[in-house]
Amino acid sequence: SVYKDEHIASIKVARRIADIIIRKKEKGENAILGLATGATPVEVYTELARMHKEEGLSFQNVITFNLDEYYPMHPEAKQSYVRFMDEQLFNHIDIKRENIHIPDGTLKKEDIANYCLDYERKITEVGGLDLQVLGIGRTGHIGFNEPGSAPNSGTRLVTLDDLTRRDASRDFGGKENVPTKAITMGIGTIFKAKEIILMAWSKKKAPIIRKAVEGEISSSVPATFLQLSDNVEFILDEDAASEL
Ligand code: GLP
Repeated sequence: SVYKDEHIASIKVARRIADIIIRKKEKGENAILGLATGATPVEVYTELARMHKEEGLSFQNVITFNLDEYYPMHPEAKQSYVRFMDEQLFNHIDIKRENIHIPDGTLKKEDIANYCLDYERKITEVGGLDLQVLGIGRTGHIGFNEPGSAPNSGTRLVTLDDLTRRDASRDFGGKENVPTKAITMGIGTIFKAKEIILMAWSKKKAPIIRKAVEGEISSSVPATFLQLSDNVEFILDEDAASEL
């Protein structure tokens, strides 16, 4: 779907998330949400926080799994996705702290493989993701699944693309300060979600959105794998959709 602007689109996505939470609550079940970072979902989180404050939307039955985290990364660091999620969403809602999962950027290298298997296991144990929200990087990455990622990949340590590090350089005060690696859910992990929403705003994203939606399916643009799923919806503003 294409919406006039980012604001209207974000409110739609927030409404979809709220509906899942409410529907699950009525059944006495938890809502399992896969969450993304970056600038793209910020307004969605703002709207969810508003719904909590003004409409009493409760997150007591919500379990979240974030897509990714830089590696290495301290949770208190300014650029950490732990801090991002706290500031943008978790500090403003009533989610139970033990229900929040974000890949751990402080692990010892030798512990990462097991940690990643465990991350997958935890998602499965709670019944799988009801919804995964995604942004898209200019390399075509979803999460941090850079070009070359396999469609059946699981949660793992990956090396960031040069363009991704350049795009992140503003947050880190220079590309040389951007970590070279990250822990990310895999394409396979994302695919297991019952619903997937990919959001993109602005002209800057128009070329990669065209490739993702209309391009040949290939690991050189990981987001093209989404064409293989029936449960994916692209939610775009007019600028991001302008090359379709
Ligand atoms: C980051 C995140 C991705 C995100 C992408 C786009 O690298 N790991 O999950 O989708 O970049 O970021 P933005 O939304 O700021 O354009």
